Amino acid sequence: MTGTHARWLDEAQERARDVLAPAVLRYIAEGAREEVTLGEAEAAWRAVRLLPRVLRDVRTIDTTADLLGTSSPLPLGIAPMSLQRAAHPDGEVAMARAAAEVGVPLVLSSNAGSTFADVAATGVTWWMQLYASPDRDLTAGLLEDAVTQGASAIVLTVDTPVVGTRYPAPEGGSVWDVADRSWVGVNARTPPVGVSPKDRDKAMDLVPEDLGRFSEMTGLPVVAKGVLRGDDAARAVDAGAAAVWVSNHGGRQLDQVASTASCLPHVVGAVAGRAPVFVDGGVRSGLHAMVALALGATGVFVGRPMFYALASDGVDGVRRALLELGTELEESMRLAGAASAADLAGVVSGPERPDL
Ligand code: FNR
Repeated sequence: MTGTHARWLDEAQERARDVLAPAVLRYIAEGAREEVTLGEAEAAWRAVRLLPRVLRDVRTIDTTADLLGTSSPLPLGIAPMSLQRAAHPDGEVAMARAAAEVGVPLVLSSNAGSTFADVAATGVTWWMQLYASPDRDLTAGLLEDAVTQGASAIVLTVDTPVVGTRYPAPEGGSVWDVADRSWVGVNARTPPVGVSPKDRDKAMDLVPEDLGRFSEMTGLPVVAKGVLRGDDAARAVDAGAAAVWVSNHGGRQLDQVASTASCLPHVVGAVAGRAPVFVDGGVRSGLHAMVALALGATGVFVGRPMFYALASDGVDGVRRALLELGTELEESMRLAGAASAADLAGVVSGPERPDL
């Protein structure tokens, strides 16, 4: 954002600032501790330099991607984010409607405020993000209901044995002044009434075998979300992960964690084509998404910009945000001389270049 020109996604964020209560805005924007990781996320994509190809036929650009068996017109998806109804009355359902219209997958948070059924009714391709509970029956029930309601993948968040500390807004107030505590667990058979995500027990005992176990329980692909290291990525794939999702949880967990842009090539190298690699964190433009593809990602997920678009313009905002990112991606690919994601191999210059 330069402030010198109007870009729709940036304007939507400005509008969100105007319409959201300060505490909700803070909840969306915040990062852990001193927000070092948060502050570096976007800059890390910007720091990558490109060596475009010329004299290539770029009349037709293929932006489609196979995302866990679903053909998506864009290699993009919406990252799981809790409590979307704090930003818009229709919350996750509005987000789902827009994703369905564009044809990209929506990942529904364990801490969503909308039911599986309401999200599924939009016709969206949706994946269920799971914070596995130490109460295995609770988890089993959630998974069973997600399958019944047509989830097409399980995204197991593996970077949250506890919730990282974030400091309150200077203005005071809490997201819970706006959000309803009953939303958390709206999809659980025995909702943990009155419990905030922060208070909830976390699975501190997750092991790689859980990936295979959840896959067996559901018959669905299971994605390991929150992997930053090549060795962990290889372990996850060995244990049955259908994909590895490079994420530092938007800088909301452990602070001073490396940027996802810097981790992605290592994970791609370690996975060595055995599974697709997804990424999120600080992706703010179609150009950033293209950099991620060039570094070997198959799918690029976007978090906060979608929340802001939802707050500012509801379904229309999220649809527009996705389409704008798609248009930027297409333009970037054309300028890079890449007619498809496969053509992006070798377009990254310098040490970030993955060994593809
Ligand atoms: C998140 N994120 C998240 N992740 C997850 O696995 N389960 C969740 O419930 C949530 N909730 C959540 C709420 C809010 C407000 C934010 C901003 C983020 C993390 C999210 O899925 C994703 O990893 C990051 O948000 C991606 O970074 P950007 O695009 O927001 O920079």
